[in-house]
Order: sequence, then C-alpha cells, then structure tokens
Amino acid sequence: MVCTLMHKRLAVAELELDDATGFIRRIDAVSAPEHLPVGVSFQKGTADRGALNDWWGDRSIPASRSGIQQALESLDIPNTKLLLLRCYGLSLSDQYWICPRGSGLTWEQINFFDNPFSDDMGDVLFGRPKREPEFDFSSPDNTSDGFLKKRWKIIHGKRCLIKGGSNPFQQQPFNEVIASDIMQSLGIPHVPYSVIWSEGRPYSVCEDFVTQDTELISAWRIMQTQKKSNSVSVYQHFVNCCQSLGIPDVIPALDRMIVLDYLIANEDRHFNNFGVLRNAETLEWLGIAPIFDSGSSLGYDKTASQIRSGRDVVCKPFKKTHEEQLQLVSSLAWIDFSALDDGKDLVYQIMSSAQAKEIVGEERIDAIAETVCRRVQFVQQMSAEQQPGFAAHSTAGDVEKDIAEDYTTKMDFNIS
Ligand SMILES: Nc1ncnc2c1ncn2[C@@H]1O[C@H](COP(=O)(O)OP(=O)(O)OP(=O)(O)O)[C@@H](O)[C@H]1O
Ligand SMILES: [Mg+2]
Repeated sequence: MVCTLMHKRLAVAELELDDATGFIRRIDAVSAPEHLPVGVSFQKGTADRGALNDWWGDRSIPASRSGIQQALESLDIPNTKLLLLRCYGLSLSDQYWICPRGSGLTWEQINFFDNPFSDDMGDVLFGRPKREPEFDFSSPDNTSDGFLKKRWKIIHGKRCLIKGGSNPFQQQPFNEVIASDIMQSLGIPHVPYSVIWSEGRPYSVCEDFVTQDTELISAWRIMQTQKKSNSVSVYQHFVNCCQSLGIPDVIPALDRMIVLDYLIANEDRHFNNFGVLRNAETLEWLGIAPIFDSGSSLGYDKTASQIRSGRDVVCKPFKKTHEEQLQLVSSLAWIDFSALDDGKDLVYQIMSSAQAKEIVGEERIDAIAETVCRRVQFVQQMSAEQQPGFAAHSTAGDVEKDIAEDYTTKMDFNIS
C-alpha cells in the first residue's frame, strides 16, 4: 500500500507498506520532519525506518493481548499489524493515521474523536463471533495497547475505554477506582475510573483523556529522544529527555506518580503506562499526562498472606524496589496525610458488593486495606523524620529491562 503518514490534517511522509506483513518498506519524501513520531530521528533528509517501524508496530495490539489469537483466527487475519491497515492506523490516544494514495480521505471524515466507530472489532476482542457478512473494521480497538482485554465504546456521547482484569481475582478494575480515589484525595491529576459488571465480570471504565487537540506520547517514546549513557540513572535520563524537549513541571508530576505507586504497591508502571500530553498541531508540550492504568497493584495476583508480608512486590519504571524508588521523590511536602485517614474505608467501600467479595475474596480485601494503611503510615513517617534523599543521579537499583506484566498465563477465561 502506498500512503501518506498523516498527523491530523498535515502530511508528514510518503510511505510504502507491505500488504502481507504491515511493515513499512520504504519512506519517501518527508514533508514535515518535526511531526514525525517522537523518537524517530531525521538525518540528512531521511527518517529512520527501523525506528518508524518500531513505532508503527507498537501501535498494533500486542500479540500477547488476552484473547487476541482467538480473535485473529475468527477474523482470518494472520497478525495484528494487518489490523492497523484496516482502520488507517487511527487511534483515540493520538492523531496519527495513514491516508492511502488516491483515496481522497480527510481527517474530518474519518477521525474517531468526532465520528462514530464500529463495535464489531470490540465484540470480537471480547470473544463474540464475527459479525457476517459486513464486518466493519473501523475501530480504535485495532490500535489499543496493553495486555488486558479491552475495547472502546461511545457511552452517552463520550469515548470510553472498558477494560477487564486478569485471573484469578480480576482485581484490576477495583484497583483502578481505589487508585483514582487516592489521587482525588491527594490532588494528583488522574484519569477517573469506575467499575461496571457484565455477565458476572468486573470491568473498569474511563473516559478518553485525549481530545481533538491533544495527544498522548508515552514515556517510552520520550526516552528514545536521547541516547542513555550508562552513568546516567534511568530516572535522570527520563528527566533529561523531558527537559531538552521543554516539557514543563516534570519533577513534581513524577513525585506524585512515585508516591501513588508506593501507596498502592503498583507492579506495572512501565514506560508505556505514563506519558506526556502535547498539542498535535502546534506540538506544544502540555506536561505529564493524568495518571492512568494503575490496576496491576494492591497484590492483584497474590494471596492474602503474600499481600500482608509485603514481599515480592515488583517495582517499575525507575528502581527495582518501591523503597528505592521513593528516594527519587524531590518533596513530600505536598501530601495532605489527613486526606488519607479513611484509606482503609475506601478499600472496603469499593470492594463492598457481594460480587466483589466473592471474586476478590474477603481475606484478601482485609489484607489490601491493611496494606494501604501501612503504606500511608510509612510515607507519613518518612515525611516527618527526614527529607527525601532525592537520589535522582544514582544508578544503584535501576530497572534494567522494562517489560509490561504478561498476564497471558493468567487470563485463560473467556469474556463474552
Ligand atoms: N483514558 C484513556 N484515554 C486515552 N488513551 C488511553 C486511556 N487509557 C489508556 N489509554 C491508552 O491505551 C493504552 C492501554 O491502556 P491500559 O494501559 O489501561 O491497558 P493495560 O492492558 O492495563 O496495559 P498494560 O499492558 O500496561 O497492563 C495505554 O497505554 C494508553 O496508550
Ligand atoms: Mg497499560
């Protein structure tokens, strides 16, 4: 397929895509190099094709997404990259797309922010049979990232992301709400989540926080804008990249994210689980995006006694343990601990329904509530006793390889 890589209404580069694999075979004229995806270099009149292919591949549903193999079989499509071609690469998290040569398509006609989209792809991703004969691929579900089963839906005119949990406890949807409530109490910019039930299973729902004017650029892409030297810590590398790009207020936002992740013992804050917002037309950096995807936390896959012990909690993205990562926080002065007095009640309130108790388990709910309390007390003590170390420059304990949690072995149930 010969097409133009578009950024909203602006032509960025002419591309030739391999119809059989979905890979970018050639990049011809680049007409707006500054609009190339962040982290794709442009030197001597040429864009880095390997980097553009990485970006393009990351746009497709990961091969490890729960239920994706069944979905591909039912659609008779060999890989998820080919799904990108069926929806022009359109997303609800950014403003990039591909315009096939000679199609005459415009942003106004096809973007998903203003135009409705089909439920067909979401239905298949949620295990329903393929709708025949006129299956409609036009859906932002073809470009959604992450392992958990998810789909976009327009609810009362708002674009919303509906996301399941992983077996055996399917706790992530509740955790998203607990995390949102903690952030609400502490004044941390966040994406609000709620829980809905469908056919006996919990799902989290949140609105699209990207608008017609903005877009999310993952921290992973920001990290690609500079080469990291071994002597620079992962944290400092990210801060340096942000500062060179001119992204405002990064350190206070990271302070808040790190504290939240400590409080909820988040195990999956990898570099695609936070990011930066920018204006897609002016390219003005707006700051760190509101915090989303905090569900793989609060011992979501652990037994009650493991949760109580507090051991074996994985930490990302900067340090290997949450205690070390907390040392990166530049200030704790902004935390109003009185707002967290009811942390325990919050957990019980959100997991109070009979359905939630059955699925998460009452003993585990007690352990989760205790964990939140203990973690609040730890941070409070730290803030009373000492100034945080602000170990921004130390590479000790750095995360070496940043990978997202893989639930594939845990997610063999079928949502329909
Ligand atoms: N409210 C939102 N508005 C816009 N984009 C979003 C929103 N929520 C998530 N996204 C985008 O969708 C991607 C997948 O969502 P999310 O991270 O919640 O899924 P996940 O399956 O929990 O991911 P992971 O594999 O990290 O566990 C995010 O990385 C982000 O790019
Ligand atoms: Mg995620």
